[in-house]
Amino acid sequence: MSNTIQKNLDYKKYVVSSKLQYFKPHATKIQKTFAEEISYSLNRDSKFIDPKYFYDNKGSDLFKKICSLPEYYPTRTEISILKQLRDELPSYLDEHFRLVELGSGTSVKTRLILDILVKLQDTIEYFPIDISEILTESSEQLLKDYDRLHITGLIDTYEDGLKFLKTFDDKKNLIIFLGSSFGNFSPNDGYKFLQKINSTMKHGDLFLIGLDLVKDKQILESAYDDSQGVTAKFNLNILSRINDELDADFYLKNFSHYVIYNEEEQRIEMYLKSLVNQSVMVSKSNLLFNLEKDELILTEHSHKYKLSQISKLLHSTGFKIKHTWLDNNNHFSLTLASKN
Ligand code: TRP
Repeated sequence: MSNTIQKNLDYKKYVVSSKLQYFKPHATKIQKTFAEEISYSLNRDSKFIDPKYFYDNKGSDLFKKICSLPEYYPTRTEISILKQLRDELPSYLDEHFRLVELGSGTSVKTRLILDILVKLQDTIEYFPIDISEILTESSEQLLKDYDRLHITGLIDTYEDGLKFLKTFDDKKNLIIFLGSSFGNFSPNDGYKFLQKINSTMKHGDLFLIGLDLVKDKQILESAYDDSQGVTAKFNLNILSRINDELDADFYLKNFSHYVIYNEEEQRIEMYLKSLVNQSVMVSKSNLLFNLEKDELILTEHSHKYKLSQISKLLHSTGFKIKHTWLDNNNHFSLTLASKN
């Protein structure tokens, strides 16, 4: 990787080639936040770990595997809807658009949108925002396959990435937020996040959001608790990461992967369950805490929506819906919206 060229706010800019540059916050920013957040989130009665910490390199790899599991219907379903957009999205793209993605283009999904833009524009600019360094790998792969592509990546949280984008320039953006990642926010944080996206947008910008829909409990629970145990591995990996990065002593065999669908709250709840009474030390967080047998650490909520709730949510956060696309089974949705 290339050397530091320029400072921009709290970011370092790395120029890899004439077609690839990326920005990354100074290392201390991330590490400090991780240690601090863990010292708060595990030092309380209802314990949790922020799911953004799933995605170190190993976690991102495991997540890729989850996406192609037979039980995990969202990815292939969303892809089938994106294929419908090939004919229908262009009518909404009247000018030159830059593609901004919350999460990085490790997948076919980004490519399906890039394929649409390639047909409409001479050059394509792609601006992925992702917390994981995997962004640089996936970008280099994309550049091999698209010769008119220019990539500016941002390795950071979505919030800070959006802040950065707002002051970046005046070009028109198509912001995409796929995979029902939005469903991982609490309703309140999600609401604020949509407002933030909306306030980042200029008139004429577009927002495409993929959201998972309410459906049968069995289908939902097996999507997050697969028969091969990949999701369990993914969940437990967050403890290995804390061990490695924050000098902790979680003994992984003392925990199990636990998933339920909460019908009232319309969400999958994913936990790490303590199998014994135990105490754990997290050195860099200055934390020593106890877990009782069967005590749960929350690692993820994944909310499911009704179409009426999606339109309410978008309207109340300042959007105007242009179109909603669904798959044949009404399992998943893609909604295109502009700033109202
Ligand atoms: N946004 C994805 C979802 O809620 C994230 C996800 C899928 C996930 N499978 C997971 C997160 C398993 C943690 C564990 O569906």
